[in-house]
Amino acid sequence: MLIRRQEAWMERESDVTPESLYRNRRELIRGLGAAALAAPLLGCGPGGETTEKEADAPAGRYAGVPANSRYRAEDAPTDYEAATAYNNFYEFGTGKSDPARHAGAMVTDPWSVRVEGAVERPGTYAFDDLVRRSDLEERIYRHRCVEAWSMVIPWIGVPLATVIARLGPTADAKFVQFETLADPAVMPGLSYPVLDWPYVEGLRLDEAMHPLSLLAVGLYGRVLPNQNGAPLRLVVPWKYGFKSIKSIVAIRFLERQPATSWNRAAPHEYGFYANVNPEVPHPRWSQASERRIGEFRRRKTLPFNGYADLVAPLYAGMDLRRNF
Ligand code: MTE
Repeated sequence: MLIRRQEAWMERESDVTPESLYRNRRELIRGLGAAALAAPLLGCGPGGETTEKEADAPAGRYAGVPANSRYRAEDAPTDYEAATAYNNFYEFGTGKSDPARHAGAMVTDPWSVRVEGAVERPGTYAFDDLVRRSDLEERIYRHRCVEAWSMVIPWIGVPLATVIARLGPTADAKFVQFETLADPAVMPGLSYPVLDWPYVEGLRLDEAMHPLSLLAVGLYGRVLPNQNGAPLRLVVPWKYGFKSIKSIVAIRFLERQPATSWNRAAPHEYGFYANVNPEVPHPRWSQASERRIGEFRRRKTLPFNGYADLVAPLYAGMDLRRNF
């Protein structure tokens, strides 16, 4: 029998599960039978099990990487165990512990990224050609999921602007789209029609070039665990976490606003911009406060997740209720 452990900081799944997912689950229950579905839905959080054990992580791989003191959230970082065991990576399942349980099967070395579209140097880039060791720095960012939980993560990464500048977007490039690996051989979640796979996300080019936007390759001084989006994931800390796409295999420079997975699945719930905004509730829950993983009391959510002084000018003159 499966027993669900309810940690104090865990969200109740019913509070946060997107409507599209509920609908899909109902369809799946009809199609597959409740027993088949019980396992993926009854995951347990940290404390239940952790596959990425500290002992297995290549500790210290990024030990010498300099910290960037300009981007250092004062809040205490979330426990490594929680950050690597309580994840959203639907390609590996919709339960919070599914990614840690299944993502180990994904091969992340060698890894290559296709660069396409309105760019001077398109092609297929090996990981090491895209991200150089000398590019890396550590930044401690707040990380706020649209589901109203949050963490604080010390990321290791390269400013996205550094990578984009090397690739050379042409004058036609107004947006950037990112795509995640979709390999049914190792990603059990792909057999469920939760989203239209592969997972895609996008940014306006000026958002992508903003100094806060990071391509992360590690956390807590270690190589990014697979469940956190190895070997390369986006981190856009002023936006809801679903913009921070994991395990990127393609970067596309486009003239028009690209499709994004959650927007396509439920456009009235998930906008293209997805800037953290405590004043605009999700249709089914408030965004005014959040549960910081590891804390007991809820805390107030800050506009742009506390990065308003740095990013608000990007949206000058825009109606942020309409462009949510
Ligand atoms: N990227 C892919 N490819 N698939 C996903 O399901 N989930 C997103 C984002 N990136 C997701 C993804 C969501 S909803 C969140 S909140 C963050 O990843 C979670 O990142 P974390 O597990 O490292 O905390």
